[in-house]
Amino acid sequence: MPEIKTVAVLGCGLMGSGIAEISAKAGYQTWVREITDELAQKGKTNIEKSLGRAVEKGKLPAEDRDAAVSRIHSTTELEALQDADIIIEAVTEDLDLKNQMFHTLDRVCGERTIFASNTSSLTIADMAAATKRPDRVVGLHFFNPVPVMKLVEVVRTIATSDETFRHAFAFARSLGKEPISAKDTSGFVVNRLLVPYMLDAIRCLEQGLATIEDIDKGMVLGTAYPMGPFTLSDFVGIDTLYRIAEIMFEEYREARFAPPPLLKRMVTMGYFGRKTKRGFYDYTGETARPMELGI
Ligand code: 3HC
Repeated sequence: MPEIKTVAVLGCGLMGSGIAEISAKAGYQTWVREITDELAQKGKTNIEKSLGRAVEKGKLPAEDRDAAVSRIHSTTELEALQDADIIIEAVTEDLDLKNQMFHTLDRVCGERTIFASNTSSLTIADMAAATKRPDRVVGLHFFNPVPVMKLVEVVRTIATSDETFRHAFAFARSLGKEPISAKDTSGFVVNRLLVPYMLDAIRCLEQGLATIEDIDKGMVLGTAYPMGPFTLSDFVGIDTLYRIAEIMFEEYREARFAPPPLLKRMVTMGYFGRKTKRGFYDYTGETARPMELGI
């Protein structure tokens, strides 16, 4: 398999922009693909801002930022990614959407291009099976915020070749991350444990066990987690958490993965967390205040 020189990232939202940022910083020519020029530009601007903050904090020399920025290219065309050595999809958790993209890319990319997915809860096999290169499809699951969190889960399906897996593992290391190997079951290792915990916190709230603030405080001060489950849910996105829970419930059919009714109501109301300024907390003022959720 050839050396990885060019990386392509599908989707330049929260996760995609983080992945593109660390790829460009690690020296790879990095393409980001979005559906409109506006979204591609917005993603690029976010990456530049993030690299700029690192410079301001003295963590990155200004010339390294400039070099990283010069390595980032954006496009709306999947065909423009034909020379990428590895393509990492970081679009919404919609299997049809992911597979449509991989279907097109399968046609236009060289046969050695590795396809990777940053899915949180779908299985990699569901994507690999839609391509003619299932041996060259892996999972590369990054964590939010990507520039900060050290872990990448490298996921192999029953069809992933040893060579592809080794390449993907080495690639994750080259980004300055600490990879672990995980099997291809919904949620892999971390979300398999983390998602039921977050859902259980919502059930505690539904049952009136304690307030939003006290449950968060309990987990921060009692277990030294950096943020409590509700702050974390708002950070991940209430809509994202709901979607992950649905997919994991579909896979395991176990009650602990089922989305609680309150989570569903919040999605219906558009309380998606930080990104919409309302979730378990209200972020419209100077400081975050717990939301009145009728409990
Ligand atoms: N980009 C780059 N750097 C960032 C950043 C970002 N988006 N957000 C924070 N940082 C950096 C800050 O610059 C700071 O760096 P410094 O210490 O060198 O100055 C450092 O991270 C700490 O940031 P802050 O002091 O602003 O705030 P915190 O101490 O609260 O840290 C946090 C922020 C790292 C996000 C921390 O709160 C944390 O670890 N939270 C939990 C994150 C977590 O659990 N992520 C996993 C989510 S689940 C997931 O992603 C899986 C998915 O499939 C659902």
